[in-house]
Amino acid sequence: MREPLISSGTTQSFNRMSTNNAWSNPLATICIKITSAICSFLFIGFIFNFSLCAHIYNSYILRENIGKIRDLESSPQSIAYPQDIKIKVTSDLSYYAGLIGLRLIEYEIITEDGFIITLQRLYDPNIDEKKRNNSFKPILLLHGLMQSSGSFLTSGYKSIAYFLVKNNYDIWLGNNRCGFNPKHVKYNSNNHKMWDWDLDEMAYYDIPAMIKQIKLIKLNYNGKISIISHSQGTTQTIYLLSNSRKPNNIIENIDIIDKCVLLAPAIYGGPLLNEKLFIKFMRFLPNGVYEMFFGINSFMPVLMHMRNLTYKSPMFGLSSYMVFSYLFDWNDYLWDANLRRYHFIFSPVFVSVKLMKWWLRGQGFAMNKPIISNPDYWFNENTPELLLVIGGKDDLVNGDLFINRLMHKEINMKDKWHYVKIPEYSHLDVLWADDIIETIGNSLLEFLK
Ligand SMILES: *[C@@H]1O[C@H](CO)[C@@H](O)[C@H](O)[C@H]1NC(C)=O
Ligand SMILES: *[C@@H]1O[C@H](CO)[C@@H](O)[C@H](O)[C@H]1NC(C)=O
Repeated sequence: MREPLISSGTTQSFNRMSTNNAWSNPLATICIKITSAICSFLFIGFIFNFSLCAHIYNSYILRENIGKIRDLESSPQSIAYPQDIKIKVTSDLSYYAGLIGLRLIEYEIITEDGFIITLQRLYDPNIDEKKRNNSFKPILLLHGLMQSSGSFLTSGYKSIAYFLVKNNYDIWLGNNRCGFNPKHVKYNSNNHKMWDWDLDEMAYYDIPAMIKQIKLIKLNYNGKISIISHSQGTTQTIYLLSNSRKPNNIIENIDIIDKCVLLAPAIYGGPLLNEKLFIKFMRFLPNGVYEMFFGINSFMPVLMHMRNLTYKSPMFGLSSYMVFSYLFDWNDYLWDANLRRYHFIFSPVFVSVKLMKWWLRGQGFAMNKPIISNPDYWFNENTPELLLVIGGKDDLVNGDLFINRLMHKEINMKDKWHYVKIPEYSHLDVLWADDIIETIGNSLLEFLK
């Protein structure tokens, strides 16, 4: 295994670690674990109670959902899963693929910095394997923060992944490092080095490892690869593509990407970041207190334990929905309400405290600020074509500022980008709206052609 090639991120954090003597003392490490466990427990408890109150208030007092939840009878897209079977609740994604007549095969791959990550290939067993290997264009799907590959598939017949398989694409579902079960060739979860990463590593190690594996399997396929990403996945993609940050060694992998679809592009932060108390709390807490609260390794691991223990219960879907809708101000009015509990099975996943810091406290995300601080051109003449899918009600990100930049600043992108704006969609509707395929299906196919 090679040493990590990007030194800036890693060195920074090592400096932080070594100057902070308290954390190098084993007793202090145990203390920090205990305090952060207690603090995150309290934090979750607070948020949960607020969410519950907000949910009750919205549904029973304001009654703002009345008449807004889609009438499924009249929806042209009828069903998500075959109606004659009782659908199980399981954390095995291949079960949901099987329900709609597809298969899922899983590869464990190793990133250049030693993380073992899961890549899944989704396919139709009725299609000739050789044909699929040699002539179907591969598309890599990349999920958002705290989510996993399941988010593209849990809508069954109405999912983006199913739609693409049925249109003869070779679909690969990517999962970032750590996921449900953090694995590394050298470190275990208790080792701080297991958690010393943020968006840089996810862009420069995880995506290239996935692309390498796809190339390895599709030896006889001569075309290029496209990427479809959602939210944090778009951030990763743009980091990888942007010429202002790219380390030299991965150029070879970039040339093979020809098109990228960015669903709810998280390139500029939206107004929500300045409105939400919990974000402000996490943003403005002094560093030492922040570490006492959240530790220095994985971000609120108690969430993943709670998921494992409770995901089979109907309460799990409801509570996840309540909490996220409270935290991020979106709702399920445009979804198929029966699918909500399946959508949430495949989140949350393990991420590093460092990543959350990147999003909330570092160069990452702030209202109206871009993820890349370099004021020069981000893109060059070899940058792949982009399709932006933007929800008009998405306040977590600001899609208009990205459009603005592509239009007025990025001269190398002239005629190489397009966008679809759906006024009534918010951040997760670009994945889970009941009519997502009717709304963006044709634009997707047109663009990927
Ligand atoms: C398709 O590719 C896979 C992975 O390389 C390989 O195992 C399989 O044999 C190939 N199938 C055919 C029919 O060539
Ligand atoms: C949750 O369950 C999965 C298997 O379904 C396992 O790999 C993972 O380690 C478990 N996570 C926790 C936090 O127990």
